[in-house]
Amino acid sequence: MSNIETRPETPRFRTGAEPGQPAGEFTIDRLGTAGDGVAETAEGLVFLAGTLPGERVAARPAGRRGEGLAGDVTEILAPSPDRVTPPCPHFLHECGACALQHFAEAPYAAWKRGRLVEALARAGQPDAPVAEMVVAAPGTRRRADLALRRLPGGGVALGFHARGSAAVADLSTCHVLDPALVQLFRPLRELARRLPALRKEGSAVLNLLDSGPDLLLRTDAKLDASQRAMLAAFGQAHGMPRIAWALGDAAPENAAQAGPVRLDLSGVTVAPPPGAFLQAAPAGEAAIIAAVLAGLAAQKLPVRARIADLYAGIGTLSFPLSAKGRVAAYEGDAAAVAALDAGARRAGGRVEAIRRDLAYRPLLPAELKAFGAVVLDPPYNGAVEQVAQIVRSTVPVVVYVSCNPVALARDAAVLVRAGFKVTQATPVDQFRWSPHLESVVSFRR
Ligand SMILES: C[S@@+](CC[C@H](N)C(=O)[O-])C[C@H]1O[C@@H](n2cnc3c(N)ncnc32)[C@H](O)[C@@H]1O
Repeated sequence: MSNIETRPETPRFRTGAEPGQPAGEFTIDRLGTAGDGVAETAEGLVFLAGTLPGERVAARPAGRRGEGLAGDVTEILAPSPDRVTPPCPHFLHECGACALQHFAEAPYAAWKRGRLVEALARAGQPDAPVAEMVVAAPGTRRRADLALRRLPGGGVALGFHARGSAAVADLSTCHVLDPALVQLFRPLRELARRLPALRKEGSAVLNLLDSGPDLLLRTDAKLDASQRAMLAAFGQAHGMPRIAWALGDAAPENAAQAGPVRLDLSGVTVAPPPGAFLQAAPAGEAAIIAAVLAGLAAQKLPVRARIADLYAGIGTLSFPLSAKGRVAAYEGDAAAVAALDAGARRAGGRVEAIRRDLAYRPLLPAELKAFGAVVLDPPYNGAVEQVAQIVRSTVPVVVYVSCNPVALARDAAVLVRAGFKVTQATPVDQFRWSPHLESVVSFRR
């Protein structure tokens, strides 16, 4: 037996360049799943952020990346006709939240929609009907998970992380977030600067609710009474009824509350817990709900069909689904279940909220028998354990809401192998300029 290494060699950047000159030239073949340009060289893949298919670029090595190498682009030698000027001054070199601001609108949308087409093809449904992508406009994201880092001089950096690094981009602006959140950057940075509870690092989750911005502050030291008073004054000055605080990853507590928080979910008022999951943009939420309801409508559910809403959060999908039948809403997070349960009671009892960890205790085939349809909206890594039970059950209709085409492709392949077929698929771009894509995919057995 030969012991010759058969793995493709790691690509090498060309050596012999003049000192200070770029060490290699590459032609970009395609965009990878993280939105980076990928050059497929004879020796392997080279990932080059900020490039576009068809471009010729000069780059120098910047370390390994998976099976290949990453490079830093030093010059765009032959730009793509699809290249545009990125609107944000922090894009690429400081902030890693967006990957594709340099890509013109139409080819960007085609690439993103293509991610869903590709995911369904990988799952064995190359001819699945994929609708046009619904796009949430820039400046409409209502949820931000910002990093806070104390700087050597005592100041604080506030923003998203840099690409593939723990560095915090200290943001003056953001083109994806709602301006009501962006205008809090400066005062929040100043507040954090004056808070001894922020020793080295922390985070600030901002949710824009109907009652105003809601802040969950996580710090690495305790908050005393005088700092709570500072938070209360900050909340009052910026129209924020509640500010919650947590030490590291501990459960949050209310540090300052001047009034109730509220969010309307399809006509039902809920009080989201601090840092609650919300669909990223109102237009994205509306498109997801419309696609889920359309997916069920096309299946003509029996009149008294019960619907299981799995990974239900605070009920974003449960309440609109209750127009179609009684809903059993399963969710793992205790605070989200409590908010959903309170909303359900106010809404008149067609939604039942149940706390359950669906990774450890997925709904079993005997339990799934009670439902005419299952809607699931799992976290980023998908729903391996729950899908394994769905395929063993007799449930005829599944609507899968996904924020990760890679996990979707894997879970959809399991459904397809068990005899499910895609009846409708809708891409929803509520993570503008990022490589992330929300999708709603309906399956029928
Ligand atoms: C993508 S969010 C969807 C929430 C909701 N459907 C919505 O549209 O707002 C995923 C939800 O799954 C919940 N979750 C994560 N892991 C879970 C698990 N193992 N069991 C049950 N729920 C889980 C999270 O708490 C979160 O609320």
